[in-house]
Amino acid sequence: MLAVGTGVGVALLLLGGIFVVVAGGTLLLRGRGRGPERGPDIPRAMRPGPADAALETPLLQKLQGWGVVLVAFMAIWIPFNWLREPSVNLQQEREQEQAKIERGHEEILYFSEENQLGVGCIRCHGPELRGGVLQLGANPDGSPKYIHPANLTTVCARLTVDQIRSTIEQGRTTLGMPSWSIKYQGALDDQQIDDLVQYLVFINRDTVPFDQNKCINPDLANPSASPSASPSASPSGGK
Ligand code: HEC
Repeated sequence: MLAVGTGVGVALLLLGGIFVVVAGGTLLLRGRGRGPERGPDIPRAMRPGPADAALETPLLQKLQGWGVVLVAFMAIWIPFNWLREPSVNLQQEREQEQAKIERGHEEILYFSEENQLGVGCIRCHGPELRGGVLQLGANPDGSPKYIHPANLTTVCARLTVDQIRSTIEQGRTTLGMPSWSIKYQGALDDQQIDDLVQYLVFINRDTVPFDQNKCINPDLANPSASPSASPSASPSGGK
C-alpha cells in the first residue's frame, strides 16, 4: 500500500494538476501556432522533409543533449531516493505506531458522539485502567457477585504481547472479562484489537521496568527462557 501523509498527498495532487495544465496548454499552443503556416493540404508522408544539413548535426546534438540531461537526472534522483528510503520508511512506521496508540487510547474510553471508537474498557478496569472491583450479577445463593478487573497499567509484568492479544480477543468469560474479537462473538476487528494491544504496551513502558516487562523484553517474552510464563497463549491467557 502507498502510505503517504495527507500533506504529501495534497502536494502530489497539486503537482499533478500543474503538470496536466502545463502539458495541455503546451499542446494547445503548438497546435494553434502551426495552423496558419501549413499551406496546401498535402498528406504528411508526401510533404518535403527538412534538409540533410538541418537534420544531422543540430538534431543529433539536441537529442544527445537531452540524453545527457536525463541520465544526469537519473544518476542523482535514484541514489537520492535509495539513500532516503530507510529513514522515510522508518518515519512512516513510527507515525503509524503513534496513530495506533492514539486510536487505542480512544478505544478504552467510553463511546460518545465525539469518541466513536470508544468501547469503554475503563468501565471495568477503572478510569486509568488501574483495576477495580465491580459487582456483576449475583451468586446462586443470592449474595452479590464481585469481579476483579485487572490493573492494565502493569499487565506487561504478567502477560506477553501475544497473551494480551489473545486475552482481549477471547476474554476470560468465566471471570467476567468479555471476549472482544469478532472471531469470538465480540465487537472489535483485528485492527482495533491491535490498537488496544499497542496502547497497553505503550502505557506499560514506564510502569513496568524493562527487566520485568514481558511485552518489550525479548528474553522474558520467550516462554522457554522464563519459567514463570505459561507455556503457550492458552485460552485462559496464562493466569
Ligand atoms: C465487564 C467488565 C470488563 C470489561 C468491559 C473489560 N474487561 Fe478486561 N478484564 C475484566 C476482568 C474481570 C478481568 C480479570 C479476569 C481474571 O481475573 O483473570 C479482565 C482482564 C483483562 C486482561 C488480562 C489482565 C491480566 O493481567 O491478566 C486484559 C489484557 C484486559 N482485561 C483487557 C481489556 C480491554 C482492552 C478491554 C476493553 C476492550 C477490557 N479488558 C474490557 C473485565 C472487563
